[in-house]
Formats: sequence, C-alpha cells, structure tokens
Amino acid sequence: MSTRNLIRRIPGLPTSDGAGVKLTRLIGQPALDMLDPFLLLDAFGSERGTDYIAGFPEHPHRGFETVTYMLAGRMRHRDNHGNSGLLVAGGAQWMTAGAGLIHSEMPEQSDGEMRGFQLWVNLPATHKMIAPRYQDIAPEQIPVLTPLPGASVRVIAGDAFGTQGPVQGIVTQPLFVDITLAAGAALTLPLEVEHSAFAYVFEGAGVHFGDTWLPVQELGVLGAGAQVKLRSADAPSRLILVAAAPLHEPVARYGPFVMNTRAQIEQAIADFRNGRM
Ligand code: CO
Repeated sequence: MSTRNLIRRIPGLPTSDGAGVKLTRLIGQPALDMLDPFLLLDAFGSERGTDYIAGFPEHPHRGFETVTYMLAGRMRHRDNHGNSGLLVAGGAQWMTAGAGLIHSEMPEQSDGEMRGFQLWVNLPATHKMIAPRYQDIAPEQIPVLTPLPGASVRVIAGDAFGTQGPVQGIVTQPLFVDITLAAGAALTLPLEVEHSAFAYVFEGAGVHFGDTWLPVQELGVLGAGAQVKLRSADAPSRLILVAAAPLHEPVARYGPFVMNTRAQIEQAIADFRNGRM
C-alpha cells in the first residue's frame, strides 16, 4: 500500500480576526491559499483573556461549512435563526452554513485558557444553497480509541479503525481525528487515496510521517497514498489529522462568502445587506 509523505510544511501566520482574537492562520494565508476542499484553518490558544475576550461578534457565512474543535475553554454560539449552543473543551461543532446565516461566537469566560481550531470546509455547487445545519457534538459523544498501546484516537468525523465519528452526512466525506501518541509510539491509518489531507502537531516535539518529519506548530500537507504512517518523536505528541474529498470546482471567495462565481458573491453580499440571510 502506498504511504503518504509530507509534501509541504507551512509555518503559521500570526494574525487576528473577529473583533481582535489572536490566532495563527495555517490555511487561507499567503503561504497556502487553500487545500481543496479546505479553505481556512485557524489555531487559537491563549491563557490571557485580553487575547480572545472580544470574540467573533455577528457575521454572516454562505457556501461552506465551519468546524470548531475546542481543546480548552467555553464559547457561546448564537445565530439569527434562533439557534444557540455552548462549545466546551473536547467538543466540536460542524456548522453547514449553506444558503447562509448570521452568527456570533463569543467566549463564555473572561480569563483562563481558551484553545482550539476553526476549519472551513467548502461545499460543492450542488450544496452551497442548502438549508443551514448544525451538528453540535458534546465531548462524551466523541469515541476514544486505543488501537495500539501508546496511541489514542478521538474520532470526530469519518471512520478510524472501524469506528465512526459522530459528525455524519457531510458531502466531502471528511475524516477528522485527534491523535495522542506516547514517546516513540507508531500508528498506521488508511486514508482515501484521492482525499486531500493535512496534519498539525499542537503538543510535543513533532511526528514522523513515513520518511518525513513534521515539527510542532507547522501545518503538514500530505502527498498521495492510501495510508499514513505516524511515529512520535522521543516525547509524547498530540495532533489533528484531517482529510476530505477535493471538489475541483472554481472558488470565488470574499470574506465569509465562498461561492463558485463572482456573480454569486455579489448576490450573497446583496442578500446579506437586504436581510435575506
Ligand atoms: Co463564523
């Protein structure tokens, strides 16, 4: 079976978004505009309230999905269709914005650690205007597997070692796993051959992928292959590994709107301005 090596390593770009939340942009920045179907990946993490307290006040989305995976802290989510929810440490939210909504994501704490990821996953032309849908996943809904001694895998979406994650019915058939490896532990995971895939080590020194090495806090883009072989360094490591089917469609992008054509972007802006979102 062909094994995937890293084909690129991308250092994150420190920036801020929302009303001034400090974060590191890994996908959706000059070094990596997108990785079809992934449009954006942000890592956020701070123990200082001033880095995140302003949160993400009301803003729209159309044409794609936002995935929030919380490692620490509490974030309140609200939208203009009456939906609300609390994202807590270890939980996830897979929000299919589809035709559009206006929401806010605000910290429900003023100090202490807030840490996690936000990933944007594109929708195909056939699904850009579907009704919005939420999958709010509590920490205890996420299966934790121990396929080998020294390896633990939380399955948020997709199938790993025969176990399905709780996020279901996503058109790009994503795999989203959070893997913890003890020092020197190794793990082999099959991936769909045609899927785009990336990894990000957020704790420890780094992880070997086949013949290549991914240090902590750099995005690793995986090349082609039917499986990935991970091996931790001489220290425990924790990483996310995410894969999904590329769409191979034109992308017209303007802030929180991601469509196929410029005309559809203009329509989205008009619909937002006219309260039709
Ligand atoms: Co948002």
